[in-house]
Amino acid sequence: MIGVFDSGLGGLTVLRALVERFKTVDFVYLADHAHVPYGNQPSEDIVGYTRACVEELFSRGAKLTLLGCNTATAVALRRLQQDWLPQSRWVAGHNVLGIVAPTVEGATQTPWAVTSPQYPQKYNTDTIAVFGTTRTITSGVYPEEIRKRCPKVTVVQQICSELAGAIENKRPEAELDALVREGVEAMLANNGEMPPHRAILGCTHFPLVEHLFRKYLPPFTRILSQPEVVADSFEDYLARRSNYLNRDERGKLTLLTTGDPDDVSEKARVFWPDVPAFAKA
Ligand code: DGL
Repeated sequence: MIGVFDSGLGGLTVLRALVERFKTVDFVYLADHAHVPYGNQPSEDIVGYTRACVEELFSRGAKLTLLGCNTATAVALRRLQQDWLPQSRWVAGHNVLGIVAPTVEGATQTPWAVTSPQYPQKYNTDTIAVFGTTRTITSGVYPEEIRKRCPKVTVVQQICSELAGAIENKRPEAELDALVREGVEAMLANNGEMPPHRAILGCTHFPLVEHLFRKYLPPFTRILSQPEVVADSFEDYLARRSNYLNRDERGKLTLLTTGDPDDVSEKARVFWPDVPAFAKA
């Protein structure tokens, strides 16, 4: 069984791609609605909330847990992997992964776990735009991971601080349109009005308004689909680590929330129209 964690419902965009890709694997998804949105909160709080949710997923039998949230990955992943997990009671056979490295792998066409500049990517002089929450962007993790692989790539970052909350709370389309337009215009102004070659929607909620990003980004700019590239990388990882899967798995899907399951089940349909009901974690 694989665990997938998100602060709220955005991670369903990642979970859905994984469920469609791995039809016989059991998944358990945990959404931290007691604390969503994470994007503007202090880093220490995000680390604590994320650790508590990973413990919950481990205790339910998900030995491999994916942080299906850019903010949690950007702020908490290294702390959990390096400081917490090796000292924890879960140390044997458990692991936590994030979604930033696979996304950067997709954006740069440089494989998972490569940390030194690779030929021919070291000559890549493209511009990549990254849109995300306040904490994801201020963490600097996207430019850092991109430059490890492609040192000459220009990265233009843009905070969209209110967009994830507005999507999660089903705000009207006109409001979402204005927030995306504001973000894209600010990014272009920061880049001397030059269109970036690629755009990473570096927040799991943003694929829900990809049509609005498409509307305001120049036609030249290719938008990367984060759920698909994460599923590609996860497939590659699981092919090498089949010990995380049990032989008796049948594609069971369990959805949990730290919030109100009825309210969350209703809102979840925005992300996935026929998604099963949530239960209380
Ligand atoms: N799922 C989060 C992400 O990908 C965004 C929502 C939040 O701010 O909690 O960054």
